[in-house]
Amino acid sequence: MISRRGLLTGGAVTAAGALVGCAPATDQPGTPAAPQSAPSAGTSTRAGTVATGIDRAGTPAQGVAAGTTASRTEPFHGPHQAGVATEPQAHAVFLGFDLLPDTRKEALVRLLKLLTDDAARLTQGRPALADTEPELAANPARLTCTFGFGPGLFKAAGTESPVSPLPRFTTDRLDERWSGGDLLVQVCADDNVTVAHAVRMLVKDARSFARVRWAQRGFRSATRRNLMGQIEGTGNATDLDEAVWISQGPLTGGTTLVLRRIRMALETWDAVDRTAREFTIGRRLDTGAPLTGTTERDEPDYARKNRLGFPVISEYAHIRRAHVADPALRLLRRPYNYDDGLTPEGKPDSGLLFASYQADIDQQFVPIQRMLAEGDLLNEWITTIGSAVFAIPPGCTPGTWIGEPLLT
Ligand code: HEM
Repeated sequence: MISRRGLLTGGAVTAAGALVGCAPATDQPGTPAAPQSAPSAGTSTRAGTVATGIDRAGTPAQGVAAGTTASRTEPFHGPHQAGVATEPQAHAVFLGFDLLPDTRKEALVRLLKLLTDDAARLTQGRPALADTEPELAANPARLTCTFGFGPGLFKAAGTESPVSPLPRFTTDRLDERWSGGDLLVQVCADDNVTVAHAVRMLVKDARSFARVRWAQRGFRSATRRNLMGQIEGTGNATDLDEAVWISQGPLTGGTTLVLRRIRMALETWDAVDRTAREFTIGRRLDTGAPLTGTTERDEPDYARKNRLGFPVISEYAHIRRAHVADPALRLLRRPYNYDDGLTPEGKPDSGLLFASYQADIDQQFVPIQRMLAEGDLLNEWITTIGSAVFAIPPGCTPGTWIGEPLLT
């Protein structure tokens, strides 16, 4: 463990940075990267969709700007649910539901048939059954609706759960109102009106079976920058068959989701100079390049030392703590920013809806989160206040419904 408070705050950090030698690697504050262009038009196919922040050729995904992709659709049917490998849309709502006490297996089947039907229609630009505002469905804007099952849903169905709540991490400060949940509905699109309409239809149809426990709204920028200004997605999993999709049992073709609500103390981050910000992550703010490189895709050189013999990328830099060498153990991170205005004290109520997909939570997410909890410089400015885990069932074909292999 290291003592972080005082080491990396305010002016003290410049001295600390120079002492440990981060300054030579970051002393060229560059100009902010230009926003990247919108993706090319057309309909994506599920097999060909890009992973978060990176395409199959290893090129960063372009991200999207709201309103540019209104008429595009993402396929609903397929071996995997959409909304995981799909190039991230500009807006998202994550809904966590608690099942009503009398929602058992039979009712669950009815609920999932209903929700599958809604999603199959809405994502393709068709109104849901009994849609009160059918005009709002005509603009799918790459809408995806992704469903996840929490431990409580499996319990209600009388089946053993393939996912269990995460162990408690020392840095967690969890609030019940952002944690847990039996059923997840993740709604993403490039148009917020489309998202709002889909959420309204899905919540309406779920109402007899479940109540909303939490709703978390997020947004992304075409620049892939989070609210701390950093470029995200560089070190994501690229081989999804190995790292993300489950290849055995009833969840074959599915995956798991860890959703963490992470508050950013932007009011104190604002007091930190640029050198310290880059030292904290291990990457430059302008290009996203590692401190040992010049472009975003340069491999970080964790062995490189400065003239004083200290590592250029600190032992406690976020990317070093989070890095795993085995590509099969990487995470597919698909985070969204959140900004809920100001707290009663006038501080920004903002942060990251950290969403990561991985085949195995215990083998992939948990060891990384442990490393971060033990000694990530970023911990000084972030606090995890919500946490939930879900199994994401495989996709379905026309005439079948999401979750069928798990509940029949
Ligand atoms: C507010 C919280 C967080 C912020 C602002 C943040 C920011 C970043 C940034 C800027 C990068 C470098 C670019 C990239 O590869 O995406 C990164 C990398 C990474 N982060 Fe985070 N992160 C946060 C939380 C987390 C959490 C909770 C985890 C997992 C438990 C995590 C896991 C990773 C991993 C695996 C990498 C890639 C490391 C590699 O290069 O191999 N991050 N993060």
